[in-house]
Amino acid sequence: LNAPEESPIGIFDSGVGGLTVVQAIHARVPHEHIVYFGDTARVPYGSKSKETITRYALENADFLVKQNIKLLIVACNTASACAIEALQKYNMPIVDVIKPGVRAAAKQTRNGRIGIIGTRSTIHSNAYVEELKKYDRNVFCTSISCPLFVPLVEENMTEGLIPSLVASQYLAPLISKHIDTLILGCTHYPLMRKTISKIMGDQVRLVDSASETALEVEKTLESYGLLRRSITSSRISFYVSDDPIRFTQMGSIFLDVPIEHVEIVCD
Ligand code: DGL
Repeated sequence: LNAPEESPIGIFDSGVGGLTVVQAIHARVPHEHIVYFGDTARVPYGSKSKETITRYALENADFLVKQNIKLLIVACNTASACAIEALQKYNMPIVDVIKPGVRAAAKQTRNGRIGIIGTRSTIHSNAYVEELKKYDRNVFCTSISCPLFVPLVEENMTEGLIPSLVASQYLAPLISKHIDTLILGCTHYPLMRKTISKIMGDQVRLVDSASETALEVEKTLESYGLLRRSITSSRISFYVSDDPIRFTQMGSIFLDVPIEHVEIVCD
């Protein structure tokens, strides 16, 4: 039997968005094996109810747990916001993307005025505002949901006229709020960074949780004695619930390295 530290890290998202987190984790702990599950058959999560998102999250986690993972990463803000309590039933360390994102934003802000954008379910859950208030009760938070961003990213339409128009309309209410930090509270949104940044202007820092999550992963593995010591090359395996060809094309663009093997899993 393999030593526990040889087990992979399990990561899931509703689609390609979580690959932004995979990239950061692979850069931080390059020797770790990773198993990624993208629930491409059921994306987007962000417009669904808490009950449905929780059911999906538990099914995704069940699949990953069967792959003998040592750590579960919820690389989806929507699932982190809606299902993190239900996911605690697994007897293993879990890292979500909300706490690291909040920590990064709290470190960055100078004027204590923070904007949050995310899916409808994430914003509706108020998870970000509650977490930010734990850092600083007086922080000013303003949040907005951007439901069309995830389908745009899944279609690889992240720049150009249509994404710009959609983003200007969604982000307009934030402009007058004098925020200096904007949390990209959805793992798909870093892929729209350029478009969002053009609208918000240079003075607003865009914070995504990927690199802070990667740090958290390293710390968690260390504290559980689960860091992989071997420096033989690591494996990243990809699983999706629909159309592996599309995921492979999109994933290769987003990960910056070719995705060679994607397998489809059905119930
Ligand atoms: N990327 C996910 C998130 O961080 C889910 C987006 C969606 O499926 O709506 O919220």
